[in-house]
Amino acid sequence: MRVLVAGGAGYIGSVVTAALLEGGHEVTVLDDLSTGHADAVPSGATFVQASLHDSAPVLAEVRPEAVLHFAAKSLVGESQVEPGIYWDTNVSGTLALLEAMRAADCRRIVFSSTAATYGEPEQVPIREDAPTRPTNTYGATKLAVDAMLTSYAAAYDFAAVSLRYFNVAGAAYGLGERHTTETHLIPIALQVVAGTREHLTVYGEDYPTPDGTCIRDYIHVEDLSDAHLLALTAPSPGEHRIYNLGNGTGFSVQQVIDAVREVTGHPVPVEVGQRRAGDPAQLVASSERIRSDLGWTPKHTDLAGIVRDAWETAQKRS
Ligand code: UFG
Repeated sequence: MRVLVAGGAGYIGSVVTAALLEGGHEVTVLDDLSTGHADAVPSGATFVQASLHDSAPVLAEVRPEAVLHFAAKSLVGESQVEPGIYWDTNVSGTLALLEAMRAADCRRIVFSSTAATYGEPEQVPIREDAPTRPTNTYGATKLAVDAMLTSYAAAYDFAAVSLRYFNVAGAAYGLGERHTTETHLIPIALQVVAGTREHLTVYGEDYPTPDGTCIRDYIHVEDLSDAHLLALTAPSPGEHRIYNLGNGTGFSVQQVIDAVREVTGHPVPVEVGQRRAGDPAQLVASSERIRSDLGWTPKHTDLAGIVRDAWETAQKRS
């Protein structure tokens, strides 16, 4: 298939680009490099540096049969203090992309949505029919795009899938997390191991969980990538499907730190700090829907394996 990957110079987009190329697809990456890296775009893909707002001429020329859309601002904390950037890039940018798709007669899209659309859950594991009450601007912008896709499917015959990611981690094809501003737990712990950061601050150990630290559902980026390839051809025109993507098991911050110590054989000095605003105690996905609809099965459910892949890739890069 001829596909356009928006945000293919970022962590997840670059891994999915590599998987698409391996699957024999013809890939053009569109990325403005605001947070991505040109050298992360796998060789074999055509790279165009442009923003979502300027995607129309690119779509007109490439004439893709499908779009995979990863391009977004994704820092929860930043979204609270700079909401304008989030509404502009994530919502206006996506609207521009969808209009560019219509103009180029491309109506198939897989969109990177997020667990943050649900906010504080009433029940875990979280199913797709749980209430969506985002507690931050980032989640609100992603939820707005999900609504946009529902109406584009209904009115313009788009075939759309929103994949609601939980905590993506690990590495594949030599591509791992490489954010200029790193906020995620596993890469921060690995920076401490590598000596580029002095210690890890645990954001609260008084949560109502067995060890008092927050529980999250860590999904390996390769399993996430498999889901994108399955989702690409799944919906019919007029259909918008929503799937949660997690491995279904929760691990606490303390368990992650223990796994990092075990895998790397290094100490990880820790300080206990205040809770981080907006952090729910527990976020674990029910991914039953995508398992039964598309036959998706995560292969990397072991936390140590996820950490090991992230660590090995980070070491090769440094
Ligand atoms: N944490 C620490 N110390 C750190 C970094 C994180 O204790 O230095 C804790 C957080 O408080 C949280 C857990 O580690 O309990 C995981 O935090 P991350 O920042 O790695 O991930 P989040 O769970 O906050 O974020 C994920 C996705 C977001 C999404 C969010 C939904 O990465 O895109 O879930 O709430 F919005």
